[in-house]
Amino acid sequence: MLSNNDQQALLAWYDEHQRDLPWRQTNDPWAILLSEILLQQTQVSRGLIYWQRMVETFPTVGSMAAAPVDAVLKAWEGAGYYSRARRLHALSQRVMMPKAEGGFDGQLPSTYDELLSLPGIGPYTAAAVASIAFRHPVACVDGNIRRVMARQTAQADPTPKQVQEWADGSLETERPGDWNQSLMELGATVCTPKRWACGTCPLRASCAGTGDPGAYPTPKKQRVTALHLVAVVEFALDGHPVLHQRPMSGMFAGLWGPMYREDAMPKDEGLVDCGTVNHQLSHKKIKVQVYVSGSSQAPKGIRRSDVALSTLDEKVLNLAAEHVFEGDDSAATKAKG
Ligand code: ADE
Repeated sequence: MLSNNDQQALLAWYDEHQRDLPWRQTNDPWAILLSEILLQQTQVSRGLIYWQRMVETFPTVGSMAAAPVDAVLKAWEGAGYYSRARRLHALSQRVMMPKAEGGFDGQLPSTYDELLSLPGIGPYTAAAVASIAFRHPVACVDGNIRRVMARQTAQADPTPKQVQEWADGSLETERPGDWNQSLMELGATVCTPKRWACGTCPLRASCAGTGDPGAYPTPKKQRVTALHLVAVVEFALDGHPVLHQRPMSGMFAGLWGPMYREDAMPKDEGLVDCGTVNHQLSHKKIKVQVYVSGSSQAPKGIRRSDVALSTLDEKVLNLAAEHVFEGDDSAATKAKG
């Protein structure tokens, strides 16, 4: 556990060195919740753009609840892990429901347990929002905090229970939101996985891991699988691509895109081979062989700016458009959206 001295040293460090992040300048629980859901799986530097877009598009929980899920996916476009956007929409609708029907009468709840009952909110987000937005004394645990704990206590592979107990026992209860964020900030900027900076760490006096920080925690082996896909892009007679909405489960659920196939090369005549697109998701290395169908009879396609597309589909459509509309800049621009 961290001592009272450690707590004061870390908070003082945080007050001086914290990054200037816009969600730290607001007390609005909805804006804070949006930031925490985004930051679960998106780096702070990329999260900034998407957070800005989300708070501008949906400034209140009610504004999101009143919008179709497609509008939420569109605002989330590019941020990845799209199930977060779908669950966020479900969360907003739950919050707007009357109390008698299991909702919260339009007010985001403030306690850990109530937050945890909402769609898309796990223990981390419930604790982060309860502490940061409502000043409730609950300790959160994320990957950064686990690493700080593992090094402080020189444990190679602490269990989730051990990390939570350490975080609970170390919690500073006067400023719980700042406390949780200061630990995350330390993990993100000083006690980093590879380029740690023990010399500037406010917790070094009590840290058992300074001799060999890289050993704590043991790096997890990431299993990355390879996925080969074939995309057949069709451009309609109006120059826009023919796009389909993906099913509500599976990869890129609910987003739009061209047809994909997992099988081998299509043998049909009239396909233009555009080459390949490579795309890396956290656990998947995707390689897409892109073809354009030269025989489309569809009168109307879909304007790309009207629907939500994954970054992979953006790349696929851009490559296809470059090949089909080579030399015809105005048609290429149209095809690109
Ligand atoms: N990661 C997730 N939420 C964070 C926050 N509020 N501050 C720093 N890092 C974070």
